[in-house]
Amino acid sequence: MSSVHDWAAPNPVRTNRSGIIGKAVDRYEGPLKVTGTAPYAYEVTPPSPAAYGVMIGAGIASGRITGADIAAAEASPGVLAVWTHLNVPAQPPRGAKAHPRSTQGSKPALESDRVAYFGQPVAFVVADTLENAVSASHLVALSYAEDAPDATFADRLDAAGQPPGEEDVEIGRFEAGFAASDVRLDEIWTTPIQNHCQMEPCATTAWWEGGTCVVHTSIQMVKPAQHGLAETLGIGRDDVHLLTRYIGGGFGGKGQTYDDLTLAALAARALGRPVKVAFTRRQMMQATIHRPATVQRVRLGASRDGRLDAMSIMTWTHCHKDGSFTEHASNFARNLYAAPNRLTGHRLVRLDLPPAGPMRAPGEASGTLSLEVAMDEMAERLGLDPVEFRLRNEPEVDPETGKPFSLRQLARCLTEGAQRFGWDRRNATPGQVRDGRWLVGLGMAAAIRGNFLLPAKCSFSVDAEGVITVRQGMTDIGTGTYTVLAQIAAETLGVPLGKVVVEIGDSELPPAPGSGGQFGAATAGSAALAAGMNLRKAIAELATADPASPLHGGYPEAVTFQDGVVAIENRSETLSDLIRRAAPEGLTVEGEIRPAQDARDWSQHTYGAHYCEVGVDPVTGEVRVRRMLGVFAAGRILNAKTARSQLTGGMIWGAASALHEGNPVDPRYGSFANQDLGQYLVPVQADIGELEAIMLDEVDDKANPMGVKGVGELGNSGSGAAVANAIYNACGVRVREYPITPDKLLAGLMARGM
Ligand code: MOS
Repeated sequence: MSSVHDWAAPNPVRTNRSGIIGKAVDRYEGPLKVTGTAPYAYEVTPPSPAAYGVMIGAGIASGRITGADIAAAEASPGVLAVWTHLNVPAQPPRGAKAHPRSTQGSKPALESDRVAYFGQPVAFVVADTLENAVSASHLVALSYAEDAPDATFADRLDAAGQPPGEEDVEIGRFEAGFAASDVRLDEIWTTPIQNHCQMEPCATTAWWEGGTCVVHTSIQMVKPAQHGLAETLGIGRDDVHLLTRYIGGGFGGKGQTYDDLTLAALAARALGRPVKVAFTRRQMMQATIHRPATVQRVRLGASRDGRLDAMSIMTWTHCHKDGSFTEHASNFARNLYAAPNRLTGHRLVRLDLPPAGPMRAPGEASGTLSLEVAMDEMAERLGLDPVEFRLRNEPEVDPETGKPFSLRQLARCLTEGAQRFGWDRRNATPGQVRDGRWLVGLGMAAAIRGNFLLPAKCSFSVDAEGVITVRQGMTDIGTGTYTVLAQIAAETLGVPLGKVVVEIGDSELPPAPGSGGQFGAATAGSAALAAGMNLRKAIAELATADPASPLHGGYPEAVTFQDGVVAIENRSETLSDLIRRAAPEGLTVEGEIRPAQDARDWSQHTYGAHYCEVGVDPVTGEVRVRRMLGVFAAGRILNAKTARSQLTGGMIWGAASALHEGNPVDPRYGSFANQDLGQYLVPVQADIGELEAIMLDEVDDKANPMGVKGVGELGNSGSGAAVANAIYNACGVRVREYPITPDKLLAGLMARGM
């Protein structure tokens, strides 16, 4: 096993001879997407005409299906199949594994008469057209024995318990430290349920080729989906060929599979023809995972000179009755600020709601909305600037583990952000600055998010045209995977970007963990670098061993790769000439990355600082985000354009969390009130003013051989708190119940006599 110390050695990405790494390269697949020719899962053309499946969701949150009248639906025009739990093809029980090493067990659809959440797919209609399937779906008559749903989080906080396998983490003695502090803060924040709202819904096109099930589906991780489907269908894992070439957003919501995948595959087998199944927007809101609501109690105790003596963040959250997913909103606080006495933990209550799950920056996105506002409040109580207060509590080493940080440039993000944003012009007294009818305020917050590296493989080929093909069972959920893999290949083999082909999103390609936890680019890219270096070696050996090559007899280690030419000093030939002559069938090699055995000896994170200017209309309570600036430290940046896009997307999401997003539960049905993008508010262009993300020039040698870290979730950490803090600075009102909607703000403004 490798050590992180090996990773600081020179390699083509670090040397960046052609300068392709880090450049603002356009998206590899961009032209296909903007011309509408990138086939998303539902749009893939199958080998013969497809049938169309429609799922029917349960109308109750908890109970049993007591009757299913499907006769009218079956008699409806064009209908090919109508299934409920009574007649769905047999599937192995949930979680069953015929292959002990499957990463997922069986996930049967329509598995029983039990209804576990509102909107749960309980019936399925397939017809020759989508219209006929939709029409017939309205004729399926289900009857239920309903149990009163237990769906109101706020009423059930007392029932919350310790999440399984988890304990509170206390360092020092929190209560004693808190009690002895000069200045104390003890407040509660709440965050609502959020939906992922991917532009592309979950969708599958499936067909069978003999005993092989071919599925095009929209997911973040290839292997677990392939394995889970194979287990559900009762076939070998290699008998599922799963493809996910283009994905219209994931955000964690496609980190698992849903019944579109299972039902499309089952129906294609039963009917002997391709089947397409997609979630409707309403089903996406109701019957895929969501970010659960939280109640967060933050306690901070500080000395008069602005040092934290005690800090605690305790989070109450909820998940499904059968689940144990926990929104770990307290975890990030374990690595953020120095304080000798610390207490963090979580409480979980199980409700009759759809399964909760991870959503972009799970933990940080919710948790920074409390702690980073508490820091602002505490700074004010201490009479300190909030930037200065944070700088005074910068830890030398990880405040809980005592481990050294691999690289921590939070202080630089804070100070550089303050300077660029014009923070010195902020009036610390709220409600003092006006611009016409608007009260104007500035706010800031820190950002932190972990960095991870997982095992991954990749293959690189070169052909007689000198084209490099990258193959990896990786996904691109809109993040830029295609593009950064192409850049790594181009830089590593010294060819122009136009000479690189990237093939991803296929279970038959060398496995990579997929997209999630902002580990994608670092993980997939490091495997690509390894494959690229192996291909360089193979090409160098080929050239130096070939009597017909001008490089013959040289040292393979001395071969350079640039502009499509292989050379040893002034002896050279083109890569395509070499391959055409010496290996006309081309060369293919694999490479892989594994976490270093000593990787955990360092505390490793990405950091940032958010600065925000808002306007508050004191008459209407309307908030306008006028300016947002984020300064981030996230290792080497592979692509300035795609990374910036990730970061600004996260920042916008933070603004949305502060101001717009939330889905209330209808306690009568255990359903979500907002079921489309008309009601569930996400920001549009007009909601976001100036927006800038700056990436510090940094390389984290402890992260991976490229020194790259993740950016996919960092922008979403802390950005909402910066908005909330700016609102306070503008008008003097703290709303601790997110989102900060005009009604809540107006109540606060009236209480202040404004
Ligand atoms: Mo993510 S929310 O770790 O896919």
